[in-house]
Amino acid sequence: MRLDATDLGKGAPVVLLHGFPLDRSIWASRPAGPFRWILPDLRGHGASPVAETATMEEQARDVIELLDRLGIERAVVGGHSMGGYVLLALLRLAPERVAGAVLVTSRAAADSEEARRAREISALRVLKEGPAFLAEAMVARFFTAGPEPEAAAAVRKLILHTKPEGIAAALRGMAQRADSTALLGTIKVPTLVVVGSGDQIVPAAEGEAMAKAIPGAKLAVFERSGHLPPLEEPDRFRAVLGAFLHSVRWTR
Ligand code: MLT
Repeated sequence: MRLDATDLGKGAPVVLLHGFPLDRSIWASRPAGPFRWILPDLRGHGASPVAETATMEEQARDVIELLDRLGIERAVVGGHSMGGYVLLALLRLAPERVAGAVLVTSRAAADSEEARRAREISALRVLKEGPAFLAEAMVARFFTAGPEPEAAAAVRKLILHTKPEGIAAALRGMAQRADSTALLGTIKVPTLVVVGSGDQIVPAAEGEAMAKAIPGAKLAVFERSGHLPPLEEPDRFRAVLGAFLHSVRWTR
């Protein structure tokens, strides 16, 4: 599928994949610097088309198609939460396209049976009622210790604007995703793992274990963040991502 994407700046390419059910606007806190930023909306989100299905592999193929379309052979790829699941699928399908990996409040494990059932209930409900209930539930869980009102309002608006069919497809796609734990030890590119100490969706301990399992991975713990460090601690996020990107070599 052809993803709608922002392509701005000149330099080494960096692709950032947003989480569920958000869009590219969460990456406003990217660092300045000599980089070419590719910021897509994933299928069913933002300005990209909705598809009936949205498995992590299909979404990884969307990213490969985007790289091909833009003539980019290798990029550093970052993913927030669901975007991180897509990144792990990309590392499985086409590791040669990834020069470095940034996993932001994401996880390698697959869903439990209980989590799968809960996703299906949410998918059916969102198709019937629209995303308002999900927006309230997610905003309450995204942030630690009471969100900044501005960030919460922006996230609520994003979710309310996401099409129910896109949300349902992503929920079902996440429920089907493979366990990537065994992949972690095979990742050969520089990797940064970002965790939020107060994350209520992906506990920090899971991210920390993921960082330990990836050879040479750097870990950045955001003490004052929940699930959304790029919005909760934007200045620190900008600095940490910038330092990591400056340490990566894009050529093999
Ligand atoms: C996300 O932030 O992308 C999702 O909440 C992740 C998930 O539900 O597993």
